[in-house]
Amino acid sequence: MLLPEVSIFRLHGRLDILQESVCVNKMSINIAIDGPAGAGKSTLAKEFAKRLQYIYVDTGAMYRGIAYYFLKNQMDVTNQTLICNQCTSIELRIQYEDGIQHVICNEEDITNFIRTEEVGNAASIVSSYPCVRQHLLDMQKKIARESDVIMDGRDIGTCVLPNAQLKIYLTASVECRAQRRFDELKSKMEQADYDKIYNEIMDRDYRDMNRATAPLKRAEDAFLVDSSEMNIEEVLDYFMKLYKDVILCA
Ligand code: DC
Repeated sequence: MLLPEVSIFRLHGRLDILQESVCVNKMSINIAIDGPAGAGKSTLAKEFAKRLQYIYVDTGAMYRGIAYYFLKNQMDVTNQTLICNQCTSIELRIQYEDGIQHVICNEEDITNFIRTEEVGNAASIVSSYPCVRQHLLDMQKKIARESDVIMDGRDIGTCVLPNAQLKIYLTASVECRAQRRFDELKSKMEQADYDKIYNEIMDRDYRDMNRATAPLKRAEDAFLVDSSEMNIEEVLDYFMKLYKDVILCA
């Protein structure tokens, strides 16, 4: 077995982060980004992946794909027994077109149908079932084994990629996340009710953080980034600094 080349150093971040970091040579580079709904994970992870020319894997989209299938087939997503019985018959895969992740469910491209609040809330429910998580876990691990990836989700640093070379826990206050979602819907001329959005975010946080299997939590070795007072460029620059410091050991 090859011994990893290890160099240990300390990094002082502007976000009060102080952590021992280890640079390790191995086949593929894995970066894990976890955090609650609406913290900006996918926007940032996508941009980060573009800069590094890594594959961006949005695992939330996989859970949304499963949830969408059940909603479309009018199955009760709160019925765990039903969902677990049906789950293995879903063939879900992701593929990339011009660098954009597409979710294919039983050979149908459902990418454009999974971004609604309804699907997001159903995804939060079905993702609490161990059978659903197991169904997706092997696929997520396999992708990360074969490619340099930035993978985002809720349990990436803790369960899917516990050996990721860089782990980031991206969060923001509930008020800030609700306001961003409100502004986003308004800019698309869609109906938006701040209080409703706020309450949905609270519910989703609670469900994602308190489920028995693979709950959302910060991995002990993850860098904590609170984006409440930062814009996208600032967060991205900070991610790049972490990448250089931790992975390139520059
Ligand atoms: O990131 P998102 O909003 O697209 O995720 C939708 C739901 O999927 C989220 O509320 C919880 C679940 N999820 C999960 O349990 N584990 C992941 N790695 C990613 C998402």
